[in-house]
Amino acid sequence: MTNTYASYLGLERLLSAQTLQTSSDDELLFIIIHQQHELWFKLAIHELDCATNSLMKEGAQEADCIIAFKRLSRVSAIQHILISTWDVLATLTPDEFILFRETVGRDGASGFQSVQYRMLEFKLGLKYRSIVFELPGGEAKTVDLFESVHTETERQALRAALAAPGIYDAVIRYMAKTLPMFGIEDHGSGDYSSQYQKSAAVFRAWGHVYRNRMGAPELYQLGEKLIDLEDAFRKWRFAHLATVSRVIGSNPGTGGSSGLRYLRQVANQLFENPMYPELWDVRSEMFSRPKEFDLTGAGYGPERPGPRTARVADSG
Ligand code: HEM
Repeated sequence: MTNTYASYLGLERLLSAQTLQTSSDDELLFIIIHQQHELWFKLAIHELDCATNSLMKEGAQEADCIIAFKRLSRVSAIQHILISTWDVLATLTPDEFILFRETVGRDGASGFQSVQYRMLEFKLGLKYRSIVFELPGGEAKTVDLFESVHTETERQALRAALAAPGIYDAVIRYMAKTLPMFGIEDHGSGDYSSQYQKSAAVFRAWGHVYRNRMGAPELYQLGEKLIDLEDAFRKWRFAHLATVSRVIGSNPGTGGSSGLRYLRQVANQLFENPMYPELWDVRSEMFSRPKEFDLTGAGYGPERPGPRTARVADSG
């Protein structure tokens, strides 16, 4: 077959993958916004894998950090595209949406079922197996992610992403080797399915990196890049929340949750339990004690993590 623009990009398949289920003129927008999210999720997952692998490899050096940094910059750029696409979806008004929502959302179809979104969260460092949310009546419901997926392939992909190191695990591993004087413990087990717990040693090491920027510039840059990622992820969640608010108000979601209340809880969660906790704690220290911020780690330990509101990390 001749290689053409269309054949190389699989355009025939791509452009015929928008199957409308109603006669609404607004359904195409809805499908395309979701599809482009899934495409960008795919690339972001790939880039995160590349960044993680370059830092996890035996004998990783500064050059590998630079590669990781570049990959993560690409993820940041993707996140900014995704945040801005909410402006396009926000042009959908409630009376337009209602004409196709019941049809396309029947059987519980919802972004809630996006496997790639869960994988992206795992790669970024949020690890959980089930989600607890409130039903519209106020009752709590627990959804096991592995039971709720629809194919074995999806289940395997999800399982592999859960067990694999996230980007923060990889950065900390590199940090442990580069800054051995802080005594950062090696994860060792090779199974990264549990939610990362913050540590005083990592906090002290980040404090050192931020106070001595020229001492470990590659780690300083990686630290700031991780902050970019988490900051953008927070913004995506809030942009989703804001769009949902203007399109369906406080009505329940098609995925069965209370809707806005659930999404608000999830959006706030990253402030209560950040993905990269020590990096945020170092920022608090820098601001409150800019000249000599406290690196003793005093008061730093398991007593400080906040409550987990919607995600359950350690069942099953
Ligand atoms: C008019 C457009 C949208 C509305 C009204 C909407 C509404 C909702 C609601 C109410 C939920 C909570 C779960 C549920 O009960 O269904 C949810 C979850 C979710 N939605 Fe949307 N959504 C919209 C667009 C999108 C788009 C474009 C994406 C992109 C992939 C998306 C991705 C997600 C994801 C990943 C979740 C799960 C969030 C989590 O559990 O943390 N949504 N959505």
